[in-house]
Amino acid sequence: MEEPIILVEGLVKIYGDGTEVVALDGLSFRVTAGEFVAVMGPSGSGKSTLLNLLAALDRPTRGRVSIGGVSLDAVEDLDAFRARTVGLVFQMHNLIPTLTARENVEVPMIGVGVGRAERRARAVELLERVGLGDRLEHLPAQLSGGQRQRVAIARALANHPALLLADEPTGNLDSVSGAEVIALLRRLNHEVGTTVVLVTHDLDVARQADRVLILQDGRIVEEHRIHDPFEEDLKAFAATGLGRAVLAGDDAARRYLGEAHFRALRRLLQGMGR
Ligand SMILES: Nc1ncnc2c1ncn2[C@@H]1O[C@H](COP(=O)(O)OP(=O)(O)OP(=O)(O)O)[C@@H](O)[C@H]1O
Ligand SMILES: [Mg+2]
Repeated sequence: MEEPIILVEGLVKIYGDGTEVVALDGLSFRVTAGEFVAVMGPSGSGKSTLLNLLAALDRPTRGRVSIGGVSLDAVEDLDAFRARTVGLVFQMHNLIPTLTARENVEVPMIGVGVGRAERRARAVELLERVGLGDRLEHLPAQLSGGQRQRVAIARALANHPALLLADEPTGNLDSVSGAEVIALLRRLNHEVGTTVVLVTHDLDVARQADRVLILQDGRIVEEHRIHDPFEEDLKAFAATGLGRAVLAGDDAARRYLGEAHFRALRRLLQGMGR
């Protein structure tokens, strides 16, 4: 089996000493590199707690998180680990108000010792990638909510993290800007292969994920795998006359398509839904 980028085993998080709150109650799951996973669930179900533990912003009470095969218990300098491995995007963009878009994107690179010229070049490239090549020297206050959130995504990608964690990144945006931000995350996931774990309350957003985990009272109560678009196309083809002929092993279809193509298609159709 493929090595998971995230492996969560028996994760428990209990807050407080007087009145204890069990925020996570023994979660286990894995995420494969390149997946786009949405996390949903009612308020207080533990979504942000989970993301904080995945980001090594907090330590679990029990259980274990491993990122890229490294158990976080064994990491001494979590700040350094986080800076290189994880990109974070929150509901509130947390940009530094006195720095321009470009400078904000450069900040995480300073922490890992990237030189000045390279920082600048990479920040410009990332801002271009998120569609803000013409807003490099704007301050956060001079940008729209959606643009600020796109700066936050560019900043999260500054050190080429394998994993991008986003906690309701569209929560404060109107639906059009929200859709743009999600489309951007989806594109980065496809083009760069960045693994994305996204907390959202929005079903339309979750539908664009490969998989949806639903939390309740600190447990995963449901898991849905969203249909592969390729599988959808294949289903549509299976319903056509030619699709039916291929499935039936029709000789005319075989001659029409050529032996190799016919066989490959037939195998795909026969394997559908498995
Ligand atoms: N620092 C904290 N100290 C004590 N309790 C906390 C703390 N952070 C969260 N909790 C509690 O843990 C539970 C899970 O909180 P969490 O923030 O993970 O929920 P959530 O699913 O992100 O909710 P929302 O959708 O409202 O953001 C809640 O009952 C919350 O009150
Ligand atoms: Mg939350």
